[in-house]
Amino acid sequence: MKIDAIVLAAGKGTRMLSPEPKVLHKLATKPLLQHVIDTLSDLKNCKTHIVIGSQSALVKKSVTSPKNCSWPVQSKQLGTGHAVKQALKNVRPNSIVLVLYGDVPLVTSKTMKKLIKVASTKQLGLLTFELENPKGYGRIIRNARGGVEGIIEEKDASVAQRKITEVNSGILAISSNKIRPLISALKNNNVAKEFYLTDIVSLAAKNQIPVKAVKPITTEEVLGANSLEELSVLERAFHLKQAKEFMSKGVGFADLKRVDFRGNVEIKKGSYVDINCIFEGQVDIGSNVKIGAGVIIKNSKIGNGVTLEPYTVVENSILEKGVKAGPYAHIGPEANLLENSEIGNFVEVKRSKIGKGTKAKHLAYIGDGKVDEKVNIGAGTIFVNYDGKNKNKTSVGTGSFIGSNSSLIAPLKIGKNSLIGAGSVITNDIPANKLALSRTKQRNIKKK
Ligand code: UD1
Ligand code: CA
Repeated sequence: MKIDAIVLAAGKGTRMLSPEPKVLHKLATKPLLQHVIDTLSDLKNCKTHIVIGSQSALVKKSVTSPKNCSWPVQSKQLGTGHAVKQALKNVRPNSIVLVLYGDVPLVTSKTMKKLIKVASTKQLGLLTFELENPKGYGRIIRNARGGVEGIIEEKDASVAQRKITEVNSGILAISSNKIRPLISALKNNNVAKEFYLTDIVSLAAKNQIPVKAVKPITTEEVLGANSLEELSVLERAFHLKQAKEFMSKGVGFADLKRVDFRGNVEIKKGSYVDINCIFEGQVDIGSNVKIGAGVIIKNSKIGNGVTLEPYTVVENSILEKGVKAGPYAHIGPEANLLENSEIGNFVEVKRSKIGKGTKAKHLAYIGDGKVDEKVNIGAGTIFVNYDGKNKNKTSVGTGSFIGSNSSLIAPLKIGKNSLIGAGSVITNDIPANKLALSRTKQRNIKKK
């Protein structure tokens, strides 16, 4: 079956009170329109037509265009029906037209497929749902036999009609041959003086095209984002849904409502997430991982049994099994912490490899370092990697002990089993098995 998906994204989004086009507002750091585009990639044999108008160039360049995509332009926003008309020029005969709204971002491909199935049986499939407070949505008008007769927009509805709680999601599917004459017949004799797409429902009913209302799996998937408040409701719903999915697979959460998933996240069972954590980008978390409050993980891989104490930030890094980090550690970008290494309070590790069992537990900066196994990096140690022009590398051999408050001036090679006295400024390489000291001898002078 051929599918022509039409995504409406030409509106200004006046109710957002923002210069940014509505469909570019972000949900979990991704533009609303991008969510719809990504979901459409689940449909086979689908051509996508994204109707743009308001700030069209910006909208087009801010999303990744799907394969097989056309970008019809609606230069004047004369209504959702008029917007669909612009796309019909590119729609194939004998296909199923699926209309989606760029400001209804969470609709699932499962629901889309249900509608397509209805449309393939020569009916108009319309996605409707119940809302206790239906404000702002088009209301579904049914006849005495319960059949859908039409949709009335809130602006045009009578007081009695406004009380109807079954509302229009805006999303529908119908064969391309059937929608063309219906769109051509649209009139704009309504309060908004717009060509409403929703009027094709009553036209279909009048033309003996059966209208079948389909229900979404959850209400969240059909909520629209017309205002910042509605957007924030969707944002929370998006994260809650994912947290529930993880929980059903054995991941524990201190509070399902206080966690954000802003990317493509995987967490294996037995792991536990405390409150206010953020997972962003491509994040892969193993089993039995303990994640403390306020931890932020971006584009990273966390091995089994890792413990991240509160307020640790991990970005673009790999933490192997049994690593312990935090509280308040900053790991990455490009840090690779090998098995059972420990990075403690106020330690920053950047572009560095930390060997198995190595510890840097307090107040240190490790930049451009290659630290081998079982090294102890004392409190206050700084890898002085930047000379004002270049970033230089420091390597530390297995079993070394770096005394507290040492400055390791890179480029530098420290051999294995070295011992550096606390407070040293190390400027030259240290061969293996040596004690290195570089500080003036203490003198205790009689006070005057
Ligand atoms: C629309 C529906 C309403 C439904 C609601 C669900 C109509 C007339 N009303 O109302 O029944 O309950 O969605 O969320 O369809 N757009 C264009 N060109 C235009 C006008 C709009 O491309 O000329 C786009 C907008 O960018 C937006 C989408 O169509 O992505 C919906 O427009 P919007 O103004 O938000 O419609 P609603 O008032 O929410
Ligand atoms: Ca809307």
